[in-house]
Amino acid sequence: MVDTPLSQHPLGNTGLTVAKLSLGLVKLGRDQGVKYPTPAKIPTDSEALALLAHAHILGVNLLDTAPAYGISEIRLGVLLQRSSAKWLICTKVGEEFTDGKSSHDFSPEHVRFSVERSLTRLRVDVLDIVLIHSDGNDIDILQRQGTLDALHALKAEGKIRAVGMSHKTLAGGELALSQGADVLMATLNRSHTEDAELIANAARAGCGVLIKKALNSGHGSADDLAFVAGYEGVHSIVVGTTSVKHLGENVAALR
Ligand SMILES: NC(=O)c1ccc[n+]([C@@H]2O[C@H](COP(=O)([O-])OP(=O)(O)OC[C@H]3O[C@@H](n4cnc5c(N)ncnc54)[C@H](OP(=O)(O)O)[C@@H]3O)[C@@H](O)[C@H]2O)c1
Repeated sequence: MVDTPLSQHPLGNTGLTVAKLSLGLVKLGRDQGVKYPTPAKIPTDSEALALLAHAHILGVNLLDTAPAYGISEIRLGVLLQRSSAKWLICTKVGEEFTDGKSSHDFSPEHVRFSVERSLTRLRVDVLDIVLIHSDGNDIDILQRQGTLDALHALKAEGKIRAVGMSHKTLAGGELALSQGADVLMATLNRSHTEDAELIANAARAGCGVLIKKALNSGHGSADDLAFVAGYEGVHSIVVGTTSVKHLGENVAALR
């Protein structure tokens, strides 16, 4: 029997539609400096293609990547040439990962460079969603660095459909919302619920809401997803997995 695919619904007022589950692709390109309970193993091309094909069948339509996820963007650009499915892609700006180390640059110049590079790597004309990949200094990034303004300018040029922030502090998420973010990526899991009111308010205001770390970076199980999905305002939960089995369990938990 073929399982029913997840249905899709609007991601706030972005004009994009998403399923309750999205696929996080850290592990497509990075196995160093990650905090998972078991060592990350980067999948082969055929394993990654099988995962994407399975995700598509299950109704998942948003892939989450970032320049900070090692070779994730580069590999995804190549793999998507071999996938017949129509995917939405969320990527980020501000964090780089080279030679096993993270560094940050939130300047408008770097934002432009990074977005142009993502367009090239991902082999697309427009990026669906680009988020600020915060290092934790959310307020400084939003008040002094001009990062969100730079993303808005690139959106106005037609290079991005929706912009926003993957914030690390509640105050940062609130400020990004007040500064016109189209999408927020917030942490929500059994041990971190402090963003719950922000998430509900953001969705009510028409902002798209993506959730990261719903499984507390692998320290939870698929059962936790129904708990997270039960919060008002959650549009899609981005779960990182390289396992077809886990992907199926995660979809089943949200069906
Ligand atoms: N600042 C940011 O923007 C930011 C930060 C963190 C994460 N993210 C995004 O959010 C995504 C998720 O975050 P995350 O990877 O930190 O945390 P997560 O989704 O809470 O956990 C991912 C881990 O859970 C495991 N897992 C997935 N499904 C499972 C299941 N059914 N049963 C048991 N284990 C399961 C995965 O291992 P297997 O591969 O073995 O399934 C993986 O190690 C990332 O991929 C990324 O796209 C963004």
